[in-house]
Amino acid sequence: MRRVYDDERLAGAYERGNEMPEGSLQAWVALIASYVQQLSPSIVEIGSGTGIFSAAMARWIEGSEVVAVDASEAMLAEARQHHSHPAVRYLSGEAEAVPAAAGAFDLALMSRVIHHIPDRARAARELARVLRVGGTAIIRTTFRERLDAVVYDYWPQLRVIDERRFPGEEEVVADLVSVGFTLEEVTSFAQPVAASLAEYHARLISRPQSKFTHLTDVEFHRGLVRLETAARSAALDEPLPVLERYDVAVFSRS
Ligand SMILES: C[S@@+](CC[C@H](N)C(=O)[O-])C[C@H]1O[C@@H](n2cnc3c(N)ncnc32)[C@H](O)[C@@H]1O
Repeated sequence: MRRVYDDERLAGAYERGNEMPEGSLQAWVALIASYVQQLSPSIVEIGSGTGIFSAAMARWIEGSEVVAVDASEAMLAEARQHHSHPAVRYLSGEAEAVPAAAGAFDLALMSRVIHHIPDRARAARELARVLRVGGTAIIRTTFRERLDAVVYDYWPQLRVIDERRFPGEEEVVADLVSVGFTLEEVTSFAQPVAASLAEYHARLISRPQSKFTHLTDVEFHRGLVRLETAARSAALDEPLPVLERYDVAVFSRS
């Protein structure tokens, strides 16, 4: 089955267009690490994409070993080229059939991937299988009822599309609880992704997210012009960073 991220153009654009300031990435890793009690944890990132989070966890979570699994060879190629790290192993695989032994990991991260998975129930069973008892699963997403991406200000039709694509909190919690997870907490966390709206605009020119494949070229360019106009007008004032907020659902494996 061909998936949207098998497209090499999108994989390259994702790598360049989804960078975030080092301080933001560090803040994300600190949040993730705060849920792990284990020293030198073994970590799996499922749907690791270009490896931004896998490499960051390996860098900043002391002694960690990371297995980064993704279904897209194009994304894995970007990851190996741009985010290689001696403590990260990039593997081809699917959330519904993770290439790892039972109980292999202390922590599993799924960042911006849950809405892509066709069989969430199977993926939840795999999460439960590969985590040890007492291990932690972290889902980083935006739940349907709290969709608030900055891009909706410029491409309002994307909100309607995402309302159909993204699962709600109750659905995701039910999937994981039904396979033996306990919900620890759902929190909300925002970090700057660009120093100004102008920088954000420059980054979005390459259509760096799968969302944009749902728009025609004309729709995409209309939104880009709206964003450029807003960036020009914002440039007259003190530059304000652009923040992206995510829901973070934390589960423990009972
Ligand atoms: C939006 S990217 C997120 C990448 C990374 N986790 C991040 O936060 O930057 C989604 C990734 O999930 C992968 N993916 C989608 N469905 C998958 C599945 N069923 N199993 C494994 N990976 C999948 C895609 O190939 C893509 O690399």
